[in-house]
Amino acid sequence: MDASQATPTLKARGLTFGYGGEAVQIDVSFEVKQGSIFAIMGESGCGKSTLLKVLIGLLRPSAGTLHFGAQDYWSMEDPTREAFGKRIGVLFQGGALWSSMTVAENVALPLQMFTGLSPASINALVQLKLSLVGLDSGRTSMPADLSGGMRQRAGLARAMSLDPEILFLDEPSAGLDPIAAKRFDDLILELRDGFGVTVVMVSHELASLFGICDDGIFLDAQSRSVIARGAPTMLRDRCDNVTVHAFMTREKPNADAINVAERTP
Ligand SMILES: Nc1ncnc2c1ncn2[C@@H]1O[C@H](COP(=O)(O)OP(=O)(O)O)[C@@H](O)[C@H]1O
Ligand SMILES: [Mg+2]
Repeated sequence: MDASQATPTLKARGLTFGYGGEAVQIDVSFEVKQGSIFAIMGESGCGKSTLLKVLIGLLRPSAGTLHFGAQDYWSMEDPTREAFGKRIGVLFQGGALWSSMTVAENVALPLQMFTGLSPASINALVQLKLSLVGLDSGRTSMPADLSGGMRQRAGLARAMSLDPEILFLDEPSAGLDPIAAKRFDDLILELRDGFGVTVVMVSHELASLFGICDDGIFLDAQSRSVIARGAPTMLRDRCDNVTVHAFMTREKPNADAINVAERTP
């Protein structure tokens, strides 16, 4: 689908957030179009994971609004917001599976907690989600016995267990070998194309950013603000901000360019 034609499914306006009264980012605004794969980019420590916490309801922003469709997320009463949380899926870094449970038990957990489905129905759904991510044969495995790529896919099956409208992923391909990372990216594309799920993804991996993301924002730690926005390929080819350029090309910033940037108000 052409993401530029779609309505925004998530709209952040003037979000300021941080810890203990100290802002990590100030006045962050962006829109995520339905069916797009949206990237949150930036150097380590700029606040990408913290923004994700605001978006999934774990950290209340000190200013700004966040709308999912017409609903003002942080103005909802706590139980309503928590119920709304079932409409989003989250994959934390490393898959974050329960190590004492099998893969199937991990995927079944949200279904047991949030639906009144019978054990037989849950079992059938777990099988479906695992085959969706190519893990049909891994259902009785323990997370420790899986490769990094398989763990991430199991985490994705769990994130998809309640058929979310939006998937939030934090560095999903970090630490994976290039083949496993590519396989994971292909899976994200399949989920978007097959189910129309919208994806918001924190990533450092250029192959993923250029390969599957169609829009995004770039956060900067120093200025605590969004310093660029748009598709990663566009930022790579047409953004002349030195920080963004260095990140997107993995080239060291040129000392002259930095001096010019610092002198420019
Ligand atoms: N729980 C926390 N309490 C206090 N400060 C935190 C906490 N988590 C992260 N930070 C700080 O907030 C900033 C942004 O962190 P984070 O969102 O994890 O960055 P990123 O994901 O971009 O690497 C960093 O300076 C980090 O040290
Ligand atoms: Mg992070």
